Amino acid sequence: MYLDQLIYSQGFGTRRHCAGLIAAGLVAVEGRACLDPAAEIAALSGVTAFAVEGQPWLFHDKAYLLLHKPAGYECSQRPGAWPGVHTLLPAPLRQRPGGGKSPGVQAVGRLDQDTTGLLLLSDDGAFIHRMSSPRHHVPKVYEVTTRHPLDDVQVGRLLAGVVLDDDPRPVRAAAARAVDERHLQLTLTEGKYHQVKRMLAAVGNRVEALHRSQVGPLVLGPEVPQGRWRWLTAEEVAGLMGRG
Ligand code: URA
Repeated sequence: MYLDQLIYSQGFGTRRHCAGLIAAGLVAVEGRACLDPAAEIAALSGVTAFAVEGQPWLFHDKAYLLLHKPAGYECSQRPGAWPGVHTLLPAPLRQRPGGGKSPGVQAVGRLDQDTTGLLLLSDDGAFIHRMSSPRHHVPKVYEVTTRHPLDDVQVGRLLAGVVLDDDPRPVRAAAARAVDERHLQLTLTEGKYHQVKRMLAAVGNRVEALHRSQVGPLVLGPEVPQGRWRWLTAEEVAGLMGRG
């Protein structure tokens, strides 16, 4: 891949801007300034290192990201009342050009503004589709704080299935376990709008706080504090795609 293409593909601005950065000696590859926009770079995802204006970056063919979403952020591409989760990403990830009609890096599914926890983002359409498709039943684990004490009847109903207002077919939790009187661990394999909140309301309780701790085999660990993000490894992506 030519150097100017590489810099552009990673979100460092328009093609013209990238050419200007190279001409100004502001792009270094493997630690050395490179002034030739047509220099051939063996671009290996997660391996090829370069720097733009002193900012070190690793080339990634596609972006697969894990974000620890804080409350007070919207997942939408065009957020309204709250800032978008994209504002938590560095500029190159916000500006990565999408191929064709792709809008670039986007959230895989949605978490509500007040929900915290594990959010995936990507610019790989096939990955986004695979992770969001109801056919694939990717399990998602939620830690739910409830307003009212939980009892066995509520947990039993969540497992047996509850009817929500937009569909006569019951939705059931793949797993539900009361951790203590007001904390429930709930595993869902669908992704209906406000599903956890609506399921808890359907059994006569209410969600006070909601945190997603796991998606498929991927667990949100302490290495990613709230508001921070990291790249997924190739093994993690394969695991999420069911090829691990
Ligand atoms: N269910 C909800 O109600 N909200 C979320 O953010 C995610 C699942």
